[in-house]
Amino acid sequence: MSLPEMRSCLDLIKPYVPGKPVEEVERELGLSGVIKLASNENALGPSPLAVKAMQENADKMHIYPDGNCYYLREALAAKLKIKPDQLLFGNGSDEILSLLTLALINPGDEAVMVTPSFSEYEFAMRLMGGVLRLVPLVGSEFVYDFDAVLAAVNDQTRIVFICSPNNPTGSHIQRAEFERFMSKLPDKVLVVFDQAYIEYVTDHGHPEGMDYIAQGHPLIALRTFSKIYGLAGLRIGYGIASSTLITGLNRVREPFNVNAMAQKAALAALSDAAHLKDSVDLVESGRKTLSTGLGALGLKPVPDQANFCFVDIGVDSRQAFQALLLKGVIVRTGDIFGYPTYIRVTYGTAEQNERFLAALKEVLSNLK
Ligand SMILES: Cc1ncc(COP(=O)(O)O)c(C=O)c1O
Repeated sequence: MSLPEMRSCLDLIKPYVPGKPVEEVERELGLSGVIKLASNENALGPSPLAVKAMQENADKMHIYPDGNCYYLREALAAKLKIKPDQLLFGNGSDEILSLLTLALINPGDEAVMVTPSFSEYEFAMRLMGGVLRLVPLVGSEFVYDFDAVLAAVNDQTRIVFICSPNNPTGSHIQRAEFERFMSKLPDKVLVVFDQAYIEYVTDHGHPEGMDYIAQGHPLIALRTFSKIYGLAGLRIGYGIASSTLITGLNRVREPFNVNAMAQKAALAALSDAAHLKDSVDLVESGRKTLSTGLGALGLKPVPDQANFCFVDIGVDSRQAFQALLLKGVIVRTGDIFGYPTYIRVTYGTAEQNERFLAALKEVLSNLK
């Protein structure tokens, strides 16, 4: 049987290759206690309040979700001091990226993004037949070159993706340079400011997307419950923008895109300030442990403001990945980002961090 013809723009999309479930890796390798430091999840897990909310609502899952996320919307708007209609919820912030390109991108329209950065920007653009202009991050600390980003903007540009802290590098931008960039960017270009890791940022010089929305700039800030809130498995993220932009985006949103369990858990998680603080503290101590431990191995991670670090280990990261896997530690290899000797490691619990460092030490002594 011949396959139906697919849209030609899909030829440029590489299918996402998921890793095996941890349980399967353990079964195949005859290991137990494998740790996954590969997807920037929260090692503390979800807030106990979110777990309780999920348990209490399990028997209501025969009812369709509230398509408007009413209670979550009200609570989040109050917390962020914005109007409820300035929020758009998605099945992860990934979905919001796709809604954005669905609403904004005609074939041939362009977007600018830095490289290396989050792969979903490329996916969402290619899905609509859009064209990407890639601007390399600069130097060993992977900083944004905003002049080069501006130089890549042309009459076809509809979106500029800014990711800060940036995945996979963990590096971040500064308010002064971002402000200068915003003042020079043509008004017809939407800035998609991905703030998935914003809760981990301690540098007061980091810009906040909502300030620019309040000033009337065309900008949408993206955030997620997948990282610090520890709810990645539920798939829920959100966008903050002007009410007008949100109204437009709602036209391409499916009515029940955010599931009911996710709404309940996210609402409960919002009120757990202690869990948030513990999560930040864990990442800060993880950063210290890894920075010291990697330093002792002669390695220097890229300075980060996120819950992970990107580090050049000086050997083929795929080989290191396999060897680490045999020791029960899963990390992300840098080759997928174009940096074959780098790995990206999520900060884990104190014990997980020590296990990673011990495993890496052995692996590197065998590979070098
Ligand atoms: C920069 C960035 N944006 C967005 C996401 C996606 O988050 P979500 O789980 O909300 O789709 C991730 C997840 O890794 C990310 O690193």
